[in-house]
Amino acid sequence: MKDPMPPVPEVTPTNLKAVEDEFSVGVYQKRRVAIVRGQGARVWDDTGREYIDCVGGIGVANVGHCNPMVVRAIQEQAARLITCNELFYNDARARCLEWLNRITPEGITRFFLCNSGTEAVEGAIKFARMATGRRRIVAAMRGYHGKTLGSLSATWDKKYRDPFAPLVPDFVHVPYNNAAEFEKAIDEQTAAVILEMVQGEGGVRPATAEFLGAVRKACDERGALLIIDEIQTGFGRTGRMFACEHFGVLPDILTMAKGIAGGIPMGAIGIDRRVGELEKQSHTSTFGGNPLACAAAAATLEYLATHDLPGRAAEHGGYLFERLRALASPRIREVRGLGLMIGIEMKEKAGPIAQALMQEGILVLLAGSTVLRLLPPLVITRDEIDAVIAALAKVLAAPPTGSEE
Ligand SMILES: Cc1ncc(COP(=O)(O)O)c(C=O)c1O
Repeated sequence: MKDPMPPVPEVTPTNLKAVEDEFSVGVYQKRRVAIVRGQGARVWDDTGREYIDCVGGIGVANVGHCNPMVVRAIQEQAARLITCNELFYNDARARCLEWLNRITPEGITRFFLCNSGTEAVEGAIKFARMATGRRRIVAAMRGYHGKTLGSLSATWDKKYRDPFAPLVPDFVHVPYNNAAEFEKAIDEQTAAVILEMVQGEGGVRPATAEFLGAVRKACDERGALLIIDEIQTGFGRTGRMFACEHFGVLPDILTMAKGIAGGIPMGAIGIDRRVGELEKQSHTSTFGGNPLACAAAAATLEYLATHDLPGRAAEHGGYLFERLRALASPRIREVRGLGLMIGIEMKEKAGPIAQALMQEGILVLLAGSTVLRLLPPLVITRDEIDAVIAALAKVLAAPPTGSEE
């Protein structure tokens, strides 16, 4: 504790940004808005201004902000038991595991629970190395798997990697959607291949079924495991519960996070029979499988399944996609994606367009410097989608404010 203890100033709408700026380490590129409330696909700032939220906590709020079923589950669990390490059994955890088993792809039947996406990837890499006794991990160019040292070793972008070298050895990066290069890279020393089904941070780039089929086959032939990273694409985002279902490819290890627990921090690793028995205590987490996150996850997964949010994402995603294509703006290079995971590649920097959309009450993400990324809650309505399109049409009709690429 600091001596003397500094006074704790009251946080007010006028000083809250200054307080955050002063006391956080400053690694985030923040927009000058304070979001204080959310409901469904909408959020409100501290001045009461409403936004349609196509950020969704970066693809977290699949069941909508403050989904009533999830809120109730969190409230009830918080009043009963918040923490209970996996040293002990727990009812909320057992329910969460049952739901995960029910909704995950065929073959995935056992789970390790953790607290974030990057942590799920760390564990997946360790499990693959332990199961195979091999070290080499084959990842994709433009891939993104997190920023802790193990997952960062699988992430491609140099600007994230280089300041922290040396990273974990025996990781290689191969061009995405290039079956021949992957077939060459996967050898008898390969523990695993790790892949996104749609590269999210890398620009919203879907895989092809031929590519994934070839990778799956090469893994099987050479005894390597396939880690499918569905941290961004999972839980209905792309119009199926998991995006791998679009392509008819099954993982040996599945990484999950983001939308898993309605916004409560949680990650999970699913494994199939090929991973086999893992050594006791080889991988653990104090908070992993805590009852609060598990209760939130069980409610979230039940809501997703019983309200067919994957089907809704497919339908509304298709509608949004068509409306975006119909905009036919000469400033748009390409619209791509799956379900409600959509990238709009601009012929110019996308940052100023995102800023202008915020002025119009629409929050969107970027994926690289020229791609606008939309990851709205899957409960977004047609009217809200129409409002997003109207705002984008208005912004794109105005003269560009950013520099041309
Ligand atoms: C595909 C993928 N993997 C891993 C991660 C890392 O997840 P987290 O930010 O929860 O560590 C992300 C985050 O965007 C992701 O999109």
